[in-house]
Amino acid sequence: MPSEFAFPKDFLWGAGTSAHQVEGDNVHNDWWAWEQAGRVKEPSGLACDHYQRFESDFDLAASLGHNAHRFSIEWSRVEPSKGQWDEAALAHYVEVVRALRRRGLEPVVTLHHYTNPQWVAEAGGWANAKVVDWFARYTERIVKTLGDLVRWWITINEPMVYVHMHYVEGEGPPGARDMRQALRVTEHLIRAHAVSYRILHDAGPMQVSIAKYLPVFIPCRRWWPLDRWAASLTDRLFNEGFLEALTAGQWRVPGVRQTTIREARATLDFLGVNFYRRHFIRWGPAPRQWLGSSCDLGHHARDVTEITPMGWDVHPDSFFHTLTRGARLGLPIFITENGTCLTDDERRWQYLLRHLEAMTRAMEAGVKVIGYLYWSLLDNFEWAKGFGPRFGLIEVDYATQQRRIRESARRYAQVCRRNTLSIAPPRAAG
Ligand code: FCB
Repeated sequence: MPSEFAFPKDFLWGAGTSAHQVEGDNVHNDWWAWEQAGRVKEPSGLACDHYQRFESDFDLAASLGHNAHRFSIEWSRVEPSKGQWDEAALAHYVEVVRALRRRGLEPVVTLHHYTNPQWVAEAGGWANAKVVDWFARYTERIVKTLGDLVRWWITINEPMVYVHMHYVEGEGPPGARDMRQALRVTEHLIRAHAVSYRILHDAGPMQVSIAKYLPVFIPCRRWWPLDRWAASLTDRLFNEGFLEALTAGQWRVPGVRQTTIREARATLDFLGVNFYRRHFIRWGPAPRQWLGSSCDLGHHARDVTEITPMGWDVHPDSFFHTLTRGARLGLPIFITENGTCLTDDERRWQYLLRHLEAMTRAMEAGVKVIGYLYWSLLDNFEWAKGFGPRFGLIEVDYATQQRRIRESARRYAQVCRRNTLSIAPPRAAG
């Protein structure tokens, strides 16, 4: 017999997006410039035209039983050139938040989701220490505009992924592959987060965090000590150290100053967790990777049962592991992203269901989870991979901008509405 798991009464259910991936025509940011320079498969263009269509998109989210929604503010729209604030863009985001509230959707606002105004990029981007002041000013402006209407804030989306993708792998602007710069950028992201955290708190009773990408790192060859060493060092750098900086104010990493780390102490009110998959790490000379290089899933990991079109494995037990581990920080956990681009919609639903089950197992084991936001509400622009991967609960036809609700979205809607999950009994071994 399946059992029913009842979620806490005020549990937040919904989905997320980010500005550049859905809004369209974000002409003043560095990703746009990067796309126009032909550095990616296809440009973001009009994307989902969500900047114009947010009202009807939120109608769909509300019709799917959601009571929360995460989106990001596009810094380059509100400050298209240094110190020049675009009042119409600010008013737009006020309207976005009001539109959510009118539909009973709690807004969860991200201040930085990978993109920067082009003027910031031209001035050296996140490698320039001044970015901390610029980001602080931007936060002040946003909090002045939206502070009365928003309680949940994510300062920076996946800081370490941002560093890795833009300064180690060079997959996004400025396309750097430079470890020293990467560490400098890490330092500035930590400072910017800490400053922004304080500004938000000075404005009212806010709940502030980052969205931390928290994958599980597995040695490619589990028996090989050097792979094990590389996996655990990557984990230390990418996951644990970073979180220790923002909680205990402790982390020793070359290139990041101790004053920065100390100032970041206690700057998370909850832990925002983004979870998708495992990473398989192999030791080896890999100058562009953090430490080890990743390996071919098929060859090295015998327990990989499913691989998405992005080459990501599916492993809900690792989600359970991530949650129980994250809980050790003593903060409530908010799942700010979890989702898949599996093309078969039944597989998408299975992914979602298995991850929800893993989450409820973690909750039964005492982990305090306060919300779950699927990535993403809509199919969207998946950065360097273009429009190929489809993560949406809602399918988007990019030629006509028509939306179609997927079956997986309807099944997820039942969970959101009932605020319960029927859990299948564990399968018998053998
Ligand atoms: C996360 C990003 C998000 C999206 C998903 C698939 O790492 O935060 O923008 O690209 O991956």
